[in-house]
Amino acid sequence: MAERTKLYEGKAKVLFATDDPHVLVQYFKDDATAFNGVKKGSIHDKGVINNKITERLMTILSAVGIPVHFLERISEREQKIRRVEIVPVELVVRNRVAGSMAKRLGREEGEPLSRPVVEFYYKSDPLDDPLITLDHIEVFGWASTAEIAWIQQTALRINDVLLGYFASIGIHLIDYKLEFGRLSQNPATLVLADEISPDTCRLWDMKTGKRLDKDRFRRDLGDVAEAYHEVAFRMGLMNSPGM
Ligand SMILES: Nc1ncnc2c1ncn2[C@@H]1O[C@H](COP(=O)(O)OP(=O)(O)O)[C@@H](O)[C@H]1O
Ligand SMILES: [Mg+2]
Repeated sequence: MAERTKLYEGKAKVLFATDDPHVLVQYFKDDATAFNGVKKGSIHDKGVINNKITERLMTILSAVGIPVHFLERISEREQKIRRVEIVPVELVVRNRVAGSMAKRLGREEGEPLSRPVVEFYYKSDPLDDPLITLDHIEVFGWASTAEIAWIQQTALRINDVLLGYFASIGIHLIDYKLEFGRLSQNPATLVLADEISPDTCRLWDMKTGKRLDKDRFRRDLGDVAEAYHEVAFRMGLMNSPGM
């Protein structure tokens, strides 16, 4: 097999070039980081599980007409994706109060929200992904008014789909992070990019409230790999329960 060119190595994934300039391979690592890389570790088989979970969720979203970068899973840890220029704005969609929202606003984790809340963060490791407003996005040219309007609307459509899907497997989708990009082949087209997994979502068991996501790693709650496995099991991607 030909040596692949590594284009980018991030905290959780590696991007490789392929023969097609508009197609990349996304490789999922077991590496886990938190607090912008301050806490480091590894979660057994996380890469395999996140690859499959992302495949399934992207496929569900694609089926209801949401454009996604995902093309196909090609191995345990790799998937083919369409190359994009990432919009440097991360969206966080929240259905209940948790994490930084609880801290920043002095609210109890788990408090329901009367409607989903979308937050914007500037994607910058050196700046620690600061919270921004729509004005910042437009003034600094990170996305046009039309692009961000589409992104925001699409995030809410994604939320409707994911909220219902996770509820159907007994999981509260508390919040999650989304990234969008412009296709390298046609920059006028925006698609959902990156990953959707227990690394990027808060997932709470509906019956017990048990956290089935990266908060187990961030907060040293134990059973980290088991929680990822449990999510995959409920999604029908593993044949034994994780916990
Ligand atoms: N389809 C795509 N085309 C180009 N870049 C992408 C695509 N999907 C995701 N990316 C970027 O690739 C990187 C994925 O690796 P990750 O380990 O998550 O990085 P990071 O540590 O920067 O979060 C991210 O920076 C993400 O924005
Ligand atoms: Mg990332």
